Amino acid sequence: MACAPALIDREGRTISYLRISVTDRCDLRCRYCMSEAMSFMPRSAVLSLEEMALIAERFIARGVRKIRLTGGEPLVRRDMIDLARRLGGKIGSGLDELTLTTNGTRLAEHAEALFDAGVRRINVSLDSRDPDTFRYITRHGDVTRVLDGIAAAKAAGLAVKINMVALKGLNQAEIAPMLAWTSAEGMDLTLIETMPLGAIDEDRADRFLPLTEVMADLRTRFALTPDSHTTGGPARYWRIEGTDSRLGLISPLTANFCATCNRVRLSTDGKLHMCLGHEDSVDLKAAIRAGGLAEVDARIEEALALKPARHDFRIAPGAAPAVARHMSVTGG
Ligand code: 5AD
Ligand code: SF4
Repeated sequence: MACAPALIDREGRTISYLRISVTDRCDLRCRYCMSEAMSFMPRSAVLSLEEMALIAERFIARGVRKIRLTGGEPLVRRDMIDLARRLGGKIGSGLDELTLTTNGTRLAEHAEALFDAGVRRINVSLDSRDPDTFRYITRHGDVTRVLDGIAAAKAAGLAVKINMVALKGLNQAEIAPMLAWTSAEGMDLTLIETMPLGAIDEDRADRFLPLTEVMADLRTRFALTPDSHTTGGPARYWRIEGTDSRLGLISPLTANFCATCNRVRLSTDGKLHMCLGHEDSVDLKAAIRAGGLAEVDARIEEALALKPARHDFRIAPGAAPAVARHMSVTGG
């Protein structure tokens, strides 16, 4: 495999960022993400850690500079730290950064090992700091564990960004206090619009809160100035005057960002998804099992031709999800 051409799609976008859903399983059941009786993949369908590492290394050889481990909840997969160590070993030789998205429930146990593996920044999902609201949204979660996990992560030297899905009538009134808290704690906050991915028990339209509306309120409370910072990703950033913290907005419904998309996603079962909002994928598990890395390369070429120009998310009463797969399978 002498030549390893860069990953450029038919819209001219260079792919430099890979997200890996290391498991679709999770110890929480957030209402906007999963149904209460969510079913998970059989273990036989899931990529082995070795296969994930080999595929990730192929992406690094082809120009991917940033990898995020996500899920589901990555820390419920037992060998996940081994994967972090192996990929962390690539930092400085191809890879710039290894990051993690977690729900934080097991962070207190794993924060130091993550730092030792080379992780320096993590995203923690925290939709509420109120114990009752948190338990309601996650269906049984204990917010204290997440808050302890965040404290442990900071103590271990990890920079923490909080992800909060904005939910009408659920955590809406907590958004301003959350921003006050994250900026006082030296953390960034990213607000996310609920996305129509996978079937859940409720109608997402009932909880959809446009971030345009949230921003109108926040601007009356905080001195916010647009920030030029970008990760090539979907978030638009604002600086909170008088602090070192940032506010990020991920608004797939009210502000489309697809033109600058630099990322692809490897699902738990080895499908390479070129867009969170489309069904198209290529099967890298079949490829690596049948023909090794040459076959993986051939499938990646096909995938580059498949990457859609944009998603077409829509949230409307009674509307079907844009795709049947949940965020936990594709990697959030
Ligand atoms: N819409 C928006 N955000 C979602 N997440 C999970 N499912 C959805 C969805 N359907 C969030 C998680 C996590 C981030 C990676 O994605 O809360 O913070
Ligand atoms: Fe688990 Fe994250 Fe989905 Fe909540 S949003 S159920 S924490 S994967």
